Amino acid sequence: MDKRPIGVFDSGLGGLTAASELAELLPGEKIVYLGDSNNMPYGEKSREEIIRMSRADLAFLLSMDVKAVLVACGTATSNALDVLEQESPVPIYGVVEPAVREAVSATENERVGVLATRATIRAGNFERLLHAVAPQLSVTSQACPKFATMVEDGIFEKTDPRVAHAVAEYLPPLREAGVDTIILGCTHYPLLADIISEYMGGGVRLISSGAAAARRLCADLRDADTLSDGACGGTRYFTTGDGGAFARTAALMLRRDISRQLHCIEPFDKGPGRMV
Ligand code: DGL
Repeated sequence: MDKRPIGVFDSGLGGLTAASELAELLPGEKIVYLGDSNNMPYGEKSREEIIRMSRADLAFLLSMDVKAVLVACGTATSNALDVLEQESPVPIYGVVEPAVREAVSATENERVGVLATRATIRAGNFERLLHAVAPQLSVTSQACPKFATMVEDGIFEKTDPRVAHAVAEYLPPLREAGVDTIILGCTHYPLLADIISEYMGGGVRLISSGAAAARRLCADLRDADTLSDGACGGTRYFTTGDGGAFARTAALMLRRDISRQLHCIEPFDKGPGRMV
């Protein structure tokens, strides 16, 4: 038994898709959620910058005495997990591998799509691992640079024309490729699942990378017998950005008010983002 909390981080609110799955699976666990909203979007930054920011995120969670860390961000997983794994004194989990395993089991026609940020698609981890696990797969990857910031700003209703426009901009290659399974490789994207499903047509399976990673972490904590005694679970939220904006969009995503559990912290890094 280990009563310490589980740490979860993302560049912003997208990682809530992982944290809420974790809280549902393990209601007795304490979760510390960090959104580095001041530096969002990570998907437009260089690998070096993503590593620097992810290191700061990990250091903050370690200062909260966490027993394990879920990198609930496809961009940080793809660009920095290898570095964090070497430096972290506690087990650290990313979103790529669990989502790939679920996609390989789900696909029937062996055509898989990957939607993610520019920095994730540039890193190529989803595609490499999909081919390593199932070399026969045809993989169609698409960067969707507008999606994460739209979700972060609370714009994800399928009736919103900005959402419909962005979907029509990014999804045609996946429809043309005839994929039957799509990995939502950025943890913000499950908020757009309804409109993505509608555009792709029935029968296309969507894999939430954050939820897949939460299921993996849950299984591993059970196997290692490092769950807490289940007496006092709950999530505390931290943001390096604007607390009001974080709480407003979180309320839309989670359908409840988290402002009493939310703490604003000093930005870790004010350096300008740069895409390579
Ligand atoms: N939620 C993050 C991810 O999973 C990305 C958002 C961003 O660009 O910061 O990739």
